[in-house]
Parts: sequence; C-alpha cells; structure tokens
Amino acid sequence: MRNPILTGAAALVLIVCGALPAAATPTFYSQLSSESQRCVECHQETTPVLYQQWGESRHYRGNVGCYECHGVNTDSSNALEHNGFKIHVIVTPKDCSRCHERQYAEMENSHHAKAGEILGSLDNELADVVEGNKKFYGKSALLVNGCLQCHGSEVKLKNGEPTVDTWPNDGIGRLNVDGSRGSCSACHLRHSFSVAQARQPETCGRCHLGPDHPQKEIYEASRHGIAYVANKDKMNMDSSKWVVGEDYWAAPTCATCHMSATKDQPTTHDVGTRISWNNRPPVSVRPEVTDAKLGLTNKLNWKQRRANMKDVCFACHNENYVNNFYEQYDGLIQLYNEKFGAPGKKLYGMLKKGGLITAQPFDEKIDWTWFKIWHHQGRRARHGASMMQPDYTHWHGLFEVAEAFYTDYLPEAREAAAAGLKAGGVKAKAAQKVNAYIDEMLNSDNHRWFIGKQSAAEKAERAKEREAFKARYGK
Ligand code: HEC
Ligand code: HEC
Ligand code: HEC
Ligand code: HEC
Ligand code: HEC
Ligand code: HEC
Ligand code: HEC
Ligand code: HEC
Repeated sequence: MRNPILTGAAALVLIVCGALPAAATPTFYSQLSSESQRCVECHQETTPVLYQQWGESRHYRGNVGCYECHGVNTDSSNALEHNGFKIHVIVTPKDCSRCHERQYAEMENSHHAKAGEILGSLDNELADVVEGNKKFYGKSALLVNGCLQCHGSEVKLKNGEPTVDTWPNDGIGRLNVDGSRGSCSACHLRHSFSVAQARQPETCGRCHLGPDHPQKEIYEASRHGIAYVANKDKMNMDSSKWVVGEDYWAAPTCATCHMSATKDQPTTHDVGTRISWNNRPPVSVRPEVTDAKLGLTNKLNWKQRRANMKDVCFACHNENYVNNFYEQYDGLIQLYNEKFGAPGKKLYGMLKKGGLITAQPFDEKIDWTWFKIWHHQGRRARHGASMMQPDYTHWHGLFEVAEAFYTDYLPEAREAAAAGLKAGGVKAKAAQKVNAYIDEMLNSDNHRWFIGKQSAAEKAERAKEREAFKARYGK
C-alpha cells in the first residue's frame, strides 16, 4: 500500500495567533509589541548573546518578541515580578501552542510527552536506590542529573522561580506547572528555534544513544548516516519546505523518517505515527498495546503506521526493496521474541513468583543478567535491525544475548532452583517447575543444540557446510 495514513491531529488546521483567521502558517506581527520593546532595550545590553540568537530567528522576523513567549499565560501559579512586568521564565509547550497548535496537539499525544512518567519503573529503582540516595533536596542527585535530563522533571516554582531540584531541565516529557507536558526546546534550541538545527541527527542523538538505545550510533554507522555525512552541504536543511524527494534526496536524517514531510504526508510531532513495533519491553509488542496503557489516543494500528513509514522510504527506494527490508526486520524481531525474549521473561517470572529469588530488584546477579539481556543487548539487536546496522544486530546484539543467556542466565536459574530444592516445601515445588520449564525450553527446536540434541539431519547439514567452508578457505 503506497498511501500514507494521517492522524486526526495532522488533519487539524493550524490555529493562528490571537483572533486572526486560520492560515497555513502562523501570521507575522507587523511590529514588535511595546512590552517586547522594553524587554529588548534592556536585554540587548544584559544578555547580548540571547538577544543575538533571537535576532537570527524567524520569530524576530515575525515580530514575536520576548513578551509574546515569556509574558503570556501568566497568573498567580507561575508569575515572576520583573521590572514592572509579570513574566515566567519557563516557556511551556502550552505557551507555544498559541501560535503552533498543531505541533502542540501532536506532541502532547505522543510517547515523548509521556516520558516524564518513569518514576516507579524498574530503571528508576536504579536511580533512587541502587545507584543513588535521596540526599539532594530529598531526591536522588542521579535522578536529577541523569534520567530526568532526558525524560523530564516535574517542575516546581518558588516565588515564580523554578527550583534547583527541578530546573534547568529540558527533558522531552517534562511536567510543567500549567499542566502541559514536555519541552519544545528539548529539540528546538533557544532562542534561534531553527528548523535546520532540529532536522540534524545530533538533535535526537542527545537522548537516543548509549548502551540501551543506541539509535544515534546505529544511524551513524548505517548507509543512511554515511550518505548524510558525505552530502551534508546538499541537504538544503534551512529551507522552510523540506519534502523528501523534492527539496533534498541525498540522505535521510532521523527527522526525515520519523517527523518530516513527504509529498503525501505533512510533518508530524507525534514520533509514534510511523512505528510498527515497540522494541523497548522485554518482548516486542505492537505500538497500540503500549499506547493504550499510556492513555495515548492515536488510533492508528501498526499496519497504518508502517504504511506511513514506507511512504517515506518510497521517496528514495522502490517498493520491493522496502517490503523485503520490512520482512527481514520482522524476522529478526520474531526470532528474538521467540528464542530469548518470551522464554527469558517467563522464566524470570517463575523464579520471582516461586520465591526462588528475592522480590527486591538488582540484589542478585541474575537480576542484572536478565536486565542486560532484554534492556541492553536485546534492544540493541532489535534497534540495529530496524535501522539497518548489522554490527548492532549481531555482535553488540544477539551474540551478547546468546552468550549471557546460555552461560549466565540459565546456570544462574538452575542454581536458584537447586537452592530451592534444598530448602524444601513450597520452594522445592517451585524449583521443580522451574527445572521442568528449562528442560522443556532446552528440548525445543530453538535450544536443543545446547544439550547435544540436534537432529541427525541438522547435524549432517552443518557438517556439510563446514566441509564446504574448509574447501573454500583451506582452513
Ligand atoms: C530594566 C531592565 C530589564 C527589563 C525592562 C527586562 N529585563 Fe529581563 N532581566 C534583566 C536582568 C538584568 C536580568 C538578569 C540577567 C542575569 O541574571 O543574567 C533579567 C532576567 C530575565 C529573565 C530570567 C529571570 C530568572 O530569574 O531566571 C527572563 C526570563 C527575562 N529577564 C525576561 C524578560 C522579559 C520577557 C522582559 C519584558 C517583559 C524583560 N525581561 C524585561 C533586565 C531587564
Ligand atoms: C518563541 C518563544 C520565546 C521567545 C520569543 C523568547 N524566549 Fe526566552 N525562552 C524561551 C524558552 C522555550 C526558554 C527555555 C525555558 C525552559 O523551558 O527551560 C527560554 C528561556 C529564557 C531565559 C532563561 C534561560 C537562559 O538560557 O538563561 C531567559 C533569560 C530568556 N528566555 C529571556 C528571553 C528574552 C530576553 C527574550 C527576548 C529577546 C526571549 N527570551 C524571547 C522561549 C522564548
Ligand atoms: C506569538 C506567536 C508565536 C509564539 C508564541 C511562538 N511562535 Fe514559533 N513561530 C511564529 C511565527 C510567526 C513563525 C514564523 C512562521 C514562518 O516563517 O512562516 C514561527 C516559526 C517557528 C518555527 C520555525 C522556524 C524556522 O526555522 O522555520 C519554530 C521551530 C517555532 N516557531 C517554534 C516555536 C516554539 C518552540 C515556541 C514556544 C517556545 C514558539 N515557536 C512560540 C509565531 C510564534
Ligand atoms: C541519555 C538520555 C536518557 C537517560 C539518561 C535515561 N533515559 Fe530512559 N530512555 C531514553 C530514551 C531515548 C528512551 C526510549 C528508547 C527507545 O525508544 O528505544 C528511554 C526509555 C526508557 C524507558 C522505557 C519507556 C517505554 O516506553 O517503555 C524507561 C522506563 C526509562 N527510559 C527510564 C529511565 C530511568 C529511570 C533512567 C535513569 C535511571 C533513564 N531512563 C535514563 C533516554 C534516557
Ligand atoms: C523531538 C524533537 C522535537 C520536539 C520535541 C519539537 N519539535 Fe518542532 N520540529 C522538529 C523537527 C525535526 C522539525 C522539522 C520538520 C521538518 O522537517 O520540516 C520541527 C518543526 C517545527 C515547526 C515548523 C513547522 C513544522 O511543523 O515543520 C514548528 C512551528 C515547530 N516545530 C514547533 C514546535 C513546538 C511548538 C513544539 C512543542 C510543542 C515542538 N516543535 C517540539 C522537532 C521537534
Ligand atoms: C530530550 C530527550 C529526547 C530527544 C531530544 C528526542 N527523544 Fe525521542 N524519545 C525520548 C524518550 C525518553 C522516549 C521514550 C518515551 C516513552 O515511551 O516513555 C522517546 C521515544 C521516541 C520514539 C518512539 C515513539 C513511540 O511512539 O514508540 C521515537 C520514534 C523517537 N523518540 C524519535 C525521536 C526523534 C526522531 C528525535 C529527534 C528529532 C527525538 N526522538 C528526540 C527522548 C528524546
Ligand atoms: C531511513 C529511515 C530512518 C532513519 C534515518 C532513522 N530511523 Fe529510526 N526507525 C526507522 C524504522 C524503519 C524503525 C522501525 C519502525 C517499526 O518498528 O516499524 C525505526 C525505529 C526507531 C525507534 C523506535 C524504538 C523502538 O522501540 O524500536 C526510535 C526511538 C528511532 N527509530 C529513533 C531514531 C533516531 C534517533 C534516528 C537518528 C539518529 C533515527 N531513528 C533514524 C527508520 C529510520
Ligand atoms: C532520502 C533518501 C532515502 C530515504 C528516505 C531512505 N533511504 Fe534507504 N538508502 C538511501 C541511500 C542513499 C542508501 C545507500 C545506497 C547504496 O547502498 O548505495 C540507502 C540504503 C538503504 C539500505 C541498504 C542498507 C545496507 O546497509 O545495505 C536499506 C535496507 C534501506 N536503505 C532501507 C530504507 C528504508 C526501509 C527506508 C524507510 C524507512 C529508507 N531506506 C529511506 C537513501 C534513502
């Protein structure tokens, strides 16, 4: 199917500043407001760099001044008395929405806007307890300097000034005092707010990197990243219309595939509308499943989302190429899910439920082993396949999953079961079940090689391949 499916939000007409009639883009003001003139008079002296950045922006050219962003929506909950004005320091997505309603609506209904709700997650146990303590204004200093810088803090104000434990923070799902979520300047650096900068892969790479979600590294080492570096100067990044295949064609950036326009699709600020798997959990699931849990109302099913992404690919590749890619990708996800994700998750659940390991996360070696299998190694394999970087799929991915699964995880599970058997009673019963499950798993097609039970046909085939290899390479 070659037709993209648009979201409800994407079909909304942009609501224009103030009471002006609807138009495709926000309207420029004809002159700078008298309030903003006052701000500027002082601030070109006191904060010249900031003034300069604003001066280079499209906002400056549209006479959108300091007051239009820092002065609106001020009330007793956020106001700071400032040289005769009531202002607020933090400009929230809701403030931007006065002029950019569509971008706001899309972002608020995306995973990005939900990213601040991680307290209580398993990872959060690491920040608060395992790696941290609560001695920084009652919080973990690691949480404040680590997790929340990407995910977003819950902003608190004192006399209109943001508090030290909650700000500076430009996390993608920041919880703002006006009830809006996220931060537009997570991607749009202030005060230039340039689209050219937002379209660069580095913008996303601030958060999408590292051992558990190396999208930046994967992209850089993929052919798409290679093509981008080789052709940076031909990308026409600062054009306000940026349609792939029309305004540029040399390479896609993260924005191209996940957010920017094609000739049939407008831009979107909901980064979930082109994704057909959620590869973050221990077992990959369709995005509808996790969206529903988060209360997101994007009604697209995974097939529609995939059609949207394919529409991007088709700007540069033919249909067969793209369809085959997706089958290869699905194959890898199914392999990981079936061979390691699902059985690993089930086994871990049995160990916990049976009391064979403690309820406390991360106090035993097996907790770390399993966490790394799905959260680091297993995600890397899946992300590598989704964005075409085989080293992440294999050496940083399934190779490490397999090594940990066979040489750490299963032996550690057997050990916990052995201790359970010794303890007797209900624990012994649970241990028997665990051992039976591991046996069943190891006797399945996926794992029987490990206990020397490959079928004669499989063994013969492997032997033949080895012979052929020897003959070719003389080894
Ligand atoms: C009389 C001069 C003057 C005027 C008028 C003025 N400012 Fe300021 N503003 C300052 C100075 C000085 C600072 C402190 C700069 C610093 O801390 O580096 C400041 C700080 C700020 C801050 C940061 C406040 C904080 O506590 O973090 C913001 C935001 C700001 N101004 C916005 C505005 C806006 C918007 C206007 C117009 C409505 C405005 N200013 C008008 C002089 C002025
Ligand atoms: C398009 C909206 C917009 C305009 C116009 C704008 N700001 Fe800001 N400003 C922001 C945003 C967004 C932030 C980031 C606050 C946050 O979320 O942490 C910010 C932060 C600030 C800060 C505190 C952070 C820092 O880097 O020191 C100051 C001071 C400030 N603005 C002053 C000004 C002044 C002065 C002007 C006019 C010359 C201006 N702003 C124009 C949106 C705007
Ligand atoms: C008072 C209205 C107004 C507010 C408030 C406002 N903007 Fe804008 N914005 C505009 C106008 C006008 C343009 C220029 C549109 C054009 O060039 O067609 C613009 C353009 C932009 C662009 C495109 C820049 C480019 O390089 O093409 C971005 C990104 C942007 N705004 C982000 C923001 C963010 C983020 C906020 C809040 C922090 C914000 N705006 C607040 C009116 C506003
Ligand atoms: C460098 C930025 C960064 C830091 C630091 C970070 N995360 Fe994340 N986190 C992300 C990104 C990006 C994703 C989404 C990964 C993806 O889409 O593949 C994510 C995903 C998650 C998820 C899964 C969300 C889902 O949809 O399933 C949780 C939970 C989480 N992080 C919690 C934490 C906690 C707790 C910490 C600190 C101990 C932390 N993160 C530190 C960037 C970060
Ligand atoms: C995840 C990063 C990210 C966040 C967060 C983000 N933007 Fe954008 N924004 C982009 C990218 C990338 C583009 C360029 C799209 C393109 O290629 O034209 C863009 C473009 C824009 C434009 C130009 C018109 C358009 O839609 O292309 C406006 C206006 C804008 N953003 C406003 C906002 C506002 C307002 C917010 C907060 C509600 C926001 N953005 C949050 C990445 C982001
Ligand atoms: C400030 C940190 C940050 C930045 C910058 C950022 N992201 Fe994210 N992104 C996250 C986090 C955290 C999540 C996971 C949110 C969750 O599910 O709880 C995420 C999730 C996603 C998802 C999964 C969406 C879904 O519905 O499953 C995509 C795709 C994505 N980001 C793309 C991008 C792109 C493209 C950019 C740059 C234009 C970008 N992100 C910039 C932090 C960030
Ligand atoms: C050539 C297009 C393309 C480019 C360029 C690209 N991606 Fe992706 N991305 C994809 C595809 C395809 C998927 C898998 C979609 C699916 O599951 O259907 C994906 C998946 C993702 C996910 C989902 C994570 C999960 O749960 O699996 C995130 C986050 C993401 N990309 C971020 C990025 C970032 C950040 C960049 C730039 C550093 C980037 N992408 C560059 C095509 C691209
Ligand atoms: C702006 C153009 C552009 C877009 C959009 C684009 N690609 Fe590519 N793609 C390229 C270029 C250029 C290459 C390198 C071609 C070569 O190998 O000579 C490439 C290579 C590839 C490869 C080969 C990878 C390898 O390592 O051999 C695959 C597979 C691929 N793209 C799939 C996709 C998919 C799937 C999408 C959509 C999610 C997509 N591309 C979107 C330009 C694009």
